Amino acid sequence: MRHLIDILDFSPEELQELMDTANDIIADPAKYSEVCRGKKLATLFFEPSTRTRLSFEAAMIELGGSVLGFSEAQSSSAAKGESVADTAKVISCYADIIAMRHPKEGAPLVAAANASVPVINAGDGGHNHPTQTLADLLTIYREKGRLDHMTIGLCGDLKFGRTVHSLITAMSRYEGLQFVLISPEELKLPSYVKKEVLRAKGIPYAQTTDLEGAMPELDILYMTRVQRERFFNEEDYLRLKDSYILTPDKLKNAKSDLSILHPLPRVNEISVAIDDDPRACYFKQVLYGKYMRMALILKLLKEAGSL
Ligand code: CP
Repeated sequence: MRHLIDILDFSPEELQELMDTANDIIADPAKYSEVCRGKKLATLFFEPSTRTRLSFEAAMIELGGSVLGFSEAQSSSAAKGESVADTAKVISCYADIIAMRHPKEGAPLVAAANASVPVINAGDGGHNHPTQTLADLLTIYREKGRLDHMTIGLCGDLKFGRTVHSLITAMSRYEGLQFVLISPEELKLPSYVKKEVLRAKGIPYAQTTDLEGAMPELDILYMTRVQRERFFNEEDYLRLKDSYILTPDKLKNAKSDLSILHPLPRVNEISVAIDDDPRACYFKQVLYGKYMRMALILKLLKEAGSL
């Protein structure tokens, strides 16, 4: 049984296959509108979400399938103490595929070990968010026409930002990339990502607190929110939350073909005045996320023998 728990579960060739499918869906959505007729997706969200849960649900509906699930732990039997393992066994009796978000790192992996249907990690704590990475990859690919030979700036909460961890891991397999890690000292990229991904693969990277100083060399700027829900105290969050606010003035030295991404939700990190700048890609990124999730559902259901 194939699952998507970590972005490395898929080879670069498989990621390309997903992007090709997504592009084909974009070109001819009618061709795919009945392919999952009779199939059910369960969305098990133990943490809040707008984009990931609803884009999974929209994806399955646009494939002709149905959806069931819950959007908070308190409305499930987790509130009565049911384990993730038992939940996965139970939901396997009702659905053909599961998308799970959970505050505990590794929970979707436990679900995958116990489910008899494919499980997709829709975000586990501060760890990984591989389907956001699918959206990010398609956005970069469509904007730049490639996934290699570029300088990628990642800005904000690089410590708790799970989308950053998954994106760096995914991009580490392409040639000619370098990363600029822009964050406050307290929110630097975890050492394990630097050691196991960047240094292990000899990928050049720089760490800085200076967004404007880094701006001129960037091809991609990936802004992130300071992850309030992962902080141990509110005081630290309040001190750090507005560390970076991207305004039109801060883009004056940016490349004319810079692509600005953000996994969203944004709080203050990008001024709404940027939204109409042709370099702003974050709402396209949302839409591409739905198409990549459609491609992912198709791939996992086919490999499970359900389609
Ligand atoms: N990008 C993302 O994961 O958004 P949601 O938390 O709204 O799902």
